[in-house]
Amino acid sequence: MSTKDPIEIVDVAPRDGFQAVKAMIPTAAKIAVTSALMDANFRRLEVGAFVSPRAIPQMADTKQVHAALAAKRQARGMRFSTLIPNALGAKNAMAAGITDLVFVVSASQSHNQSNVKRSIAESLGELEKVVDLASGVDGFQLRVNIATVFDCPYEGRVPDAQVFALIEQITGHDVAVEIGLCDTTGRAFPDHVQELCGEAVARYASNPGVSWAFHGHDTYGLGVANALYAYDAGIRVFDAAAAGLGGCPFAPGASGNTASEDLVFTFENMGISSGVDLEILLDATKIIAGLDGIDGGGHVRNLPRQRVCG
Ligand code: COA
Ligand code: ZN
Repeated sequence: MSTKDPIEIVDVAPRDGFQAVKAMIPTAAKIAVTSALMDANFRRLEVGAFVSPRAIPQMADTKQVHAALAAKRQARGMRFSTLIPNALGAKNAMAAGITDLVFVVSASQSHNQSNVKRSIAESLGELEKVVDLASGVDGFQLRVNIATVFDCPYEGRVPDAQVFALIEQITGHDVAVEIGLCDTTGRAFPDHVQELCGEAVARYASNPGVSWAFHGHDTYGLGVANALYAYDAGIRVFDAAAAGLGGCPFAPGASGNTASEDLVFTFENMGISSGVDLEILLDATKIIAGLDGIDGGGHVRNLPRQRVCG
């Protein structure tokens, strides 16, 4: 039996994945993919976003996707989070009964401007409003995704000190927070991932209200390596997307998230449990690959099944 700490993979294909697809994916197809991912035994999925439909039209049916799967989700005791860029997003999500919220802010000014049309300070003001709105609300759970913590498409490598100054402000609220350290462009290198994640975990080790996740992209083929270095640094929660879908429309040159199946394959073969059923996940990736306009990534799903699951 393995003595290594298990990991939890949050599949973000139903958000980061779908938002990167230009052709509108029919709501029924989104529901079918999300449902297939539930069957693969993920404990958490990030499903859609309450953002401006003009900014990302693909996310406009988020409420319907959540509603269609609410009974199945509850029966399985799973978590469905959703992304919000501002207080209005939180209000709309909570009006739809969704209290598992992922607030996004970037570590670099220019990416924050391009993504949410606000300065970092303005975004932090929105976060404060979100916390005010949601604290005391039953089931409220907060993730703050910090985009571009390693590399910004406009500014290059982001200084660690800038990231920690932002983390300091985010953790200043009287609410438990999971911080997603996001390699938005996929241009982080493993040594940098290990350094920054290790420092983050160490700095807040005595604060039970702060926990961590690593959100990687595989643009340069470093997604799995970066996740392994993040694990080595103490991170146990990983965002990834089935079929390697994904990418921020406001980060030029960035491609898909690290493929969930590649992470499951690697970690499980290293004796680190993810709880995910790889065979069923591979079936789900086939549904995704069959959608119009899909250009996914990853490796494992393209290999003969018996060589992967044997
Ligand atoms: N959900 C739905 N509509 C929203 C919204 C939200 N969370 N936030 C703002 N809007 C609407 C406003 O109601 C307003 O509508 P109106 O023109 O009909 O009155 C309109 O959007 C403009 O509002 P404003 O606050 O001026 O927004 P903006 O144009 O400055 O855009 C964001 C800011 C954050 C809303 C927009 O950039 C956005 O949604 N970005 C999403 C980024 C994203 O998801 N990136 C990928 C994930 S990292
Ligand atoms: Zn991403």
